[in-house]
Amino acid sequence: MENVSGPALAASAASRDRMVSDVRRGLQADQKWLPPTYFYDAKGSALFERITRTPEYYLTRAEHALLEREADSIALAAGPRSLAELGAGNAEKSRILIRALHARGLGEAYVPVDVDRATLAETAASLREEFPELDVIPLVADMRREIRIPPAAPRPLLCAFLGSTLGNFSAAESQLLLSRLRGEIGKDGWLLLGADLVKDVATIERAYNDAEGLTAQFNLNVLSVLNRELGADFDLAAFEHRAFYEPRLRRIAMHLVSRAKQRVTIPLVGEIELAEGESIRTEISCKYDRESLEEILRESGFALERWMTDDNRSFALILARPE
Ligand code: SAH
Ligand code: AVI
Repeated sequence: MENVSGPALAASAASRDRMVSDVRRGLQADQKWLPPTYFYDAKGSALFERITRTPEYYLTRAEHALLEREADSIALAAGPRSLAELGAGNAEKSRILIRALHARGLGEAYVPVDVDRATLAETAASLREEFPELDVIPLVADMRREIRIPPAAPRPLLCAFLGSTLGNFSAAESQLLLSRLRGEIGKDGWLLLGADLVKDVATIERAYNDAEGLTAQFNLNVLSVLNRELGADFDLAAFEHRAFYEPRLRRIAMHLVSRAKQRVTIPLVGEIELAEGESIRTEISCKYDRESLEEILRESGFALERWMTDDNRSFALILARPE
């Protein structure tokens, strides 16, 4: 983990090594895949923000409305001195929580954790301006690997993991991540989890195939990141965005489909061959119900204390505490 005031995405040798090994493992598999973490450079984060404002992407609006409704009751139940947020991005929704905490004399510190250094630096600057008394402690970290909330953030801690970002991780990764997080939260802290719920397939698929084509650009951006960070020679025009729901797995799968037979060179990884129509899976986005979330939480050592959904039962906020 690093302080926020340094350069680019894979700036450190360790993060570049990690990227090389992730890419090698993923692109040498039968179904080629890449971790969604690499979408998020400055351009990818800006595209994601634009996606959240499209009419099709209901998730952010639903969670925002839920937070507006529930922030005060969450502040009251959890009573934290610090708020941490995993995958904070622009921290738009955490601002609602920070306001509610401050109204009750709570939430002295805010720890936004994100892998995208540029967005994190912007977020920290804008939060310091909006909340001059808030101690903002930004942390650049890959949450798949390590989460260490600094001791400078006074406990008890409320750790927010919003946007259904948990759904972008495999079941094994999710469990590992939440179990580690439990250790950081400690017995007196709380987890606030945002999760997208199972619903009709058309609504879900529309959210990942917006008419403006922003999700397609976001998807292709991972190739630009690999070109820049690893010197790869992906031709973005040779790939097509595809996102579809997998009912059995209850998840969206996002792929980049090769338009032709092609060979890509990635120094430090090697040559990657793609047949026409072959795809690279770039993201999964799992959808949940109460039962599946309760199970994930239980297996990671949390007990679900409050279940909150919006009027359409489209999205859930869960307040949980370490058992
Ligand atoms: N919480 C915000 C942003 C969600 S987008 C919201 O709900 O709107 C997902 C965020 O997680 C991005 O800001 C991205 O940079 C970050 N992220 C993705 N993978 C990550 C990882 N492995 N470690 C830390 N942050 C990650
Ligand atoms: C951040 N994450 C929860 C988003 C999602 O819905 O899975 C990322 C995203 N991918 C395509 N559109 C948005």
